[in-house]
This record gives sequence, structure tokens and C-alpha cells, in this order.
Amino acid sequence: MSEWDSFPDIVRGDGFWLVDSRGNRYLDGVASMWCNVWGHSKREIITTINSQSKKIIHSSLFNLTNNQAETLAKKLVSISPGMNRVFYSDNGSTAMEIAFKIAIQHWQNIGQKNKTMFATLQNGYHGDTFGTMSVGFVPAFFGKFKKNLYKTIQIPFENSYKISNHKEYHSQTLERIENQLSKNHNIAAFVMESGAQIAGGVNIYRDNFQSDIGKICKKHGVLFILDEIATGFGRLGSLVEYTAQKSKPDIVSYGKMLTAGYLPMAATLVTKKIYDSFLGNYHAMKHLYHGHTFTGNTMACAVANQNLQLYQKTGLISKVNKTAKHLEKRLEEFWNINAVGDIRHKGMLAGIELVSNRTKKIPISFSKSTNKIVFDEAKKHKIYLRTLGNIVMLVPPLAISQKELDFLMDGTIKTIKNITK
Ligand SMILES: Cc1ncc(COP(=O)(O)O)c(C=O)c1O
Repeated sequence: MSEWDSFPDIVRGDGFWLVDSRGNRYLDGVASMWCNVWGHSKREIITTINSQSKKIIHSSLFNLTNNQAETLAKKLVSISPGMNRVFYSDNGSTAMEIAFKIAIQHWQNIGQKNKTMFATLQNGYHGDTFGTMSVGFVPAFFGKFKKNLYKTIQIPFENSYKISNHKEYHSQTLERIENQLSKNHNIAAFVMESGAQIAGGVNIYRDNFQSDIGKICKKHGVLFILDEIATGFGRLGSLVEYTAQKSKPDIVSYGKMLTAGYLPMAATLVTKKIYDSFLGNYHAMKHLYHGHTFTGNTMACAVANQNLQLYQKTGLISKVNKTAKHLEKRLEEFWNINAVGDIRHKGMLAGIELVSNRTKKIPISFSKSTNKIVFDEAKKHKIYLRTLGNIVMLVPPLAISQKELDFLMDGTIKTIKNITK
């Protein structure tokens, strides 16, 4: 914090732009932490918020139900092959905690009490609570809490930038997973991000990698939990990323873009087989003792329903794929900058790795945090950027126009050139 003397005070959204109290405008290159879809003032969503607020804003799902929550659950199940039931929460971390608790209790409910361990890939990220830090352990973020975290099996998994033979590395990783799953009979579930590891460094999976892991899980009777909090609803070019990855999870979590980034909401979906294992008479205590105050929040569900209708009505996913092609083309220009060591891109996500030496792949470093340096310079070009360590993230709102995307790309090029001159 000592590096930051002040922050732009955002008072208004105008389409894809954030406007501060001094009237400065910044194009949102981060989709307000990877969740904004339509920009910040989408008429249909604001209308939904206004009209729902006149009916009821929040009613709980404890002993009650509400039409918005039910409609959304049906919709989520209908777009998520293999899924049957939905558990709502209000952020991605809790959606993952719920997935973990469901996995452990599922095994207990069917009489396998020893299955309590989670296996995962190194550098996955699933949130900032203790359970999610234990499973998605990014050393740079969570090193200080290591002693407080529970034990998990972390399969070595390097970022693609550091690997020379990708094919060989990926089959080695699959072998390592198979080896762990075959010898440890206490593994409740294998957990991974769907499509790509994002916070752990924009590591995009090779074709079939995720589906091959799913098959290994099935073979060894281990549940397969997918985290689609950052990739679900089109970030990588598919509405449901696990269908593009040809994989069949037992449990999947959504968040972020579910409400187009307007209200906090997340959801954990399970198969019928898992759901059924929680049924029984009351004294059998098979039910899940888990409930958040704002679970199934009526307003957030109404917004999510409106959001998903807009996806359909506007054909957003095919538009995203067109915009993504343009993004890919523009990213070529970044190779002209010496400090760019690698560019990883899929759909509407790009990570531009800044290095001080391209051949040796040495990450760039400044006297201040790279995020601060990039943020300050980007502001001068009227764009809002954030980095993950030495990686400049481009995660624009999905519906951004080509013209505004060009503005973002031009500003990012100038930013990187200026700070690395
Ligand atoms: C893949 C993934 N899982 C979980 C989370 C946690 O979500 P939240 O920040 O809403 O708790 C994030 C957040 O960035 C994420 O990227």
C-alpha cells in the first residue's frame, strides 16, 4: 500500500468505460476482475434490477424458494451437460468450498469415510479462503499461510512458457496423475480450472488434456471437480468451457460472468448421482449442512436470468469468437517489443509475459511492483490494466466492440513500450 498514494475514485460506468470523480475515463481492460460482459450500463440489466427491486430484493432459500432462483437453476442445468442440481453462493471461493464439501460428504454418505483428500495441479487457483488456498496453492499469493493449510496432493504442472517439449510434458503430467490416483485410495476428488489456469499465470491447456484427466478420474473412482468461475460463460470462446474440453465433471462451479459482473453470485452444480447420495430420512443426516445468508439472492438470480437471455438473444458467443480472432491478430504486434517474452491467448483472454531477457526468459522487474508501473502508465493512455506479476492481463468485457478493443490494444502497446524503453 505504501506505493499507492491515491486511487481513481470510480463514480460511474459508461458502456465499457469507467469514469472517475475527476471525469477521467478508463477503458476497462480487466472486465472489473474478469466478470463484466456487456459493459457497465447495459439497459436490459439495469431495467431488470429496477423492476426486481420493486418486488423483492432478497428472500432466503432456507425453507423457501423463489421463482428467479428456480428459473435460473433450470437454465443452468439445461446448459450444463450431465448436471442435475444447483447450490447457490455469492462468490467463486465459496462455490469451490461447497464443491469440496459436497465431494467429501458424498463419499461419507455412501459409506466411504476415508476419501477426504484432494488432488490437483500445481498453480491452479480456486479462491482466497483457507480451503481454496489449500487446493489452489499459488505460492506467491499464499506462501505466508502454508502452515495453516490442509494437505493436498499437488501434481507438478509448469506453465507452458517454461516447457520445451509440450507433448511429452503433458503425457508425463497425465502419468503422474494416474500414478497418484492409483496408489492413494483416500482421494475424494481431483480439482482443476476448466480450460486454463488463469491466476496461476495464464496457462492454457493443450487439446484433450482436461478430458484425459477426467478419464483417469473415472477409471480410479475419483470425483472430477471443474472450476469454471473465470472461464464459464464465454471467456475462452464457449458458453460452457467443459463441453469445449470434451470433459464430464461430477461437480462444476460458476461465478464471475454469471451475472454479467453486476451482482455477486456463484453456483455449484452436481450430477444426479451426487445429489441423490444426499437424500435420506432426517436422522440419517445425509443433508449438506451448508448455507450462506445470500444463497439464491433473488435480485442476483433475476440479473443472471436476464444475462443468460441476452447471451441467447444477441448470439454473444459467436460474436466473442469473431472479436477473439481480431484480438489474436492484434496480439501479433506485441512481438515487436523486445520486453515481450511470450503471449498466451485463447478467446477473450491474453497474458503478455514481460521479460528482461527474451532468450533466458528472465521475468522483468522494476523498483516498484510491476502492477503499479503498468497501471500508472496505462492510465495515461486512458485504459485500465492489471498484471499478474510480470504478466500483463488482457481480459476485456466480452461484448466489447472492435473499435474499443483496438483502443485497448493501442494503449497496451504504448504502455509496454514506454515502461520498458
Ligand atoms: C478460477 C477461479 N476460481 C475461483 C475464483 C474465486 O472467485 P472469487 O474471487 O469470486 O471468490 C477465481 C477468482 O478469480 C478464479 O479465477
